[in-house]
Amino acid sequence: MTRARPSGTATKIARFMLLLDSTPRLERVLPSGAAETVEALLRASGAVRRREVDMMRGRTGARLYETAERLLGRGQLLWFGVRKRWMHEAVEQALAEGARQVLVVGAGFDPLAVSVARRHPDVTCVEVDAPATAEPKRAGIQGAGLARPNHVVLAADLASKSLEEVLRPTGWRADVRSVVVAEGLLMYLAPAQVTAFLAQVRACTGPGSRLAFSSMEVDEEGQPRVVFAGRLLGRLIRFSLRLTGEPLRWGIAPAAAPAFLSGAGYRVLDQPTPRGLRERFLSPIGLDEEPLAPYEHLVLAEVSASER
Ligand SMILES: C[S@@+](CC[C@H](N)C(=O)[O-])C[C@H]1O[C@@H](n2cnc3c(N)ncnc32)[C@H](O)[C@@H]1O
Repeated sequence: MTRARPSGTATKIARFMLLLDSTPRLERVLPSGAAETVEALLRASGAVRRREVDMMRGRTGARLYETAERLLGRGQLLWFGVRKRWMHEAVEQALAEGARQVLVVGAGFDPLAVSVARRHPDVTCVEVDAPATAEPKRAGIQGAGLARPNHVVLAADLASKSLEEVLRPTGWRADVRSVVVAEGLLMYLAPAQVTAFLAQVRACTGPGSRLAFSSMEVDEEGQPRVVFAGRLLGRLIRFSLRLTGEPLRWGIAPAAAPAFLSGAGYRVLDQPTPRGLRERFLSPIGLDEEPLAPYEHLVLAEVSASER
């Protein structure tokens, strides 16, 4: 999956983070410092034009946020903010409970590994993405002065290389308790690649390791369901993603996830509901009534001891 340009979905999510942070009532949704790191990465990598980054900050950014929400549907952009908060907290909790390695797969321009590496110098942080995205990200990290000795950005297409192969040169240890993040990734993998990915995560991590991921649901045709749009708009979105080289391939219903994961050697620890996420992340900052439109569900799973 080598492309000349960075992933369009990854730069889109990075833009959404800046827009969220520029909207005063929503600026406390993202993990602290996340938007500043994304801004620095985008500026130093050149993945998004400087003028565009300027426009997304401050009052123009807040206006762009409202326009995007009118076009896409209310609560769409906020979903990304809530998803990022949940992933951030899942990683922090795993570290507090003993994990010593963090792997972010399909990391895009997400700031998670950068910020964990800065906050936890004793934790090994690795992120992987396809070369067209990982290379500018790596350049952005260097250019923004965010590089840390405990943080590596790997460029690899996981459709053609296993995680074991990709991680081999990094000093990553398969016997150490780890936390792996696959946020907005699995829907772009074919079903057999998802199964292989789950097996590879188990093979690359020590006892008690965790996997935090987001997943789309499936429709009656077995296709990932674009839940936020009408049927026609859903088809259009799927078609345009295919055109841009990022077709949707896999999804699972939340109710089916525990059995599927159990068959793959995992035990589900958490599957937050939209209501639970609202109570945890939005109500405490006065956003009880703010529309939230999750187009995915979230799963935290632990590698089962008996299956290793
Ligand atoms: C929707 S973006 C999500 C980015 C990031 N996780 C986030 O939530 O901000 C999907 C990312 O997965 C990466 N990706 C998709 N298929 C991949 C593959 N086969 N190998 C490596 N990376 C892949 C894309 O390049 C892109 O950066």
